[in-house]
Amino acid sequence: MLITFEGIDGCGKSTQIYLLKQYLEDKGKHVQVYREPGGARIAEEIRTLLLDSKNEISAVSELLLFSAARAQLVQEKIIPDLDNGTVVILDRFYDSTTAYQGYGRSVLPLKEIVALNKMASHGLIPNLTFYLRLPLHLALQRRSERAQDRMEMAGNEFYTRVLEGYELMAKEQPRFIILDGAQPIESIALEIQQHL
Ligand code: ADP
Ligand code: TYD
Repeated sequence: MLITFEGIDGCGKSTQIYLLKQYLEDKGKHVQVYREPGGARIAEEIRTLLLDSKNEISAVSELLLFSAARAQLVQEKIIPDLDNGTVVILDRFYDSTTAYQGYGRSVLPLKEIVALNKMASHGLIPNLTFYLRLPLHLALQRRSERAQDRMEMAGNEFYTRVLEGYELMAKEQPRFIILDGAQPIESIALEIQQHL
């Protein structure tokens, strides 16, 4: 089973993933968590390139680097885990590329991004995608403590487009479960558990 978490930076993904992993392990499941970009050695190196605020990266290059990191993670880790019956939880997957590079950067027509996503993920489709919906100002408040990475320096208009992208995807695709990210941590966790 493949479960993904999506939403803008600071929406609470890592917090909920930690709680869901514990919940599933308590039920005797074997669980693996990976973050994107990252999760495999090569993919972590690409992550460093992508998030370093000193790097100037063109929009197409950025799209290809996120996709390259994903292709490595999927082939090296996710496919073998799924074959072993492990529950795989991902902190972001290709919906992030559609939202950030597709809607946010508007770098290429969406159709081309969708085709690239399919290639990079070897055709895998998540069984469930939890979308933590959170207004931008609340996400910014939660992020105020930590240093900005290269993506987070893109500005509010960029993030508004990213949010619009998520809303459209969540409306169109039944695998998306929309959660109110402004609710208390425990209420969100309970809602997530009800879907499993
Ligand atoms: P993400 O992984 O999506 O960037 P995090 O889980 O790291 O988000 O959460 C960002 C910050 O917001 C953390 O300080 C976390 O403790 C806090 N946080 C997470 N969920 C909630 C929530 N439901 N209500 C209030 N604060 C939250
Ligand atoms: P990260 O610190 O993992 O995100 P978060 O703050 O949500 O925990 O940083 C990943 C950044 O990369 C985040 O800004 C989203 C962005 N991203 C893309 O632009 N495209 C992608 O395909 C992925 C996977 C992430």
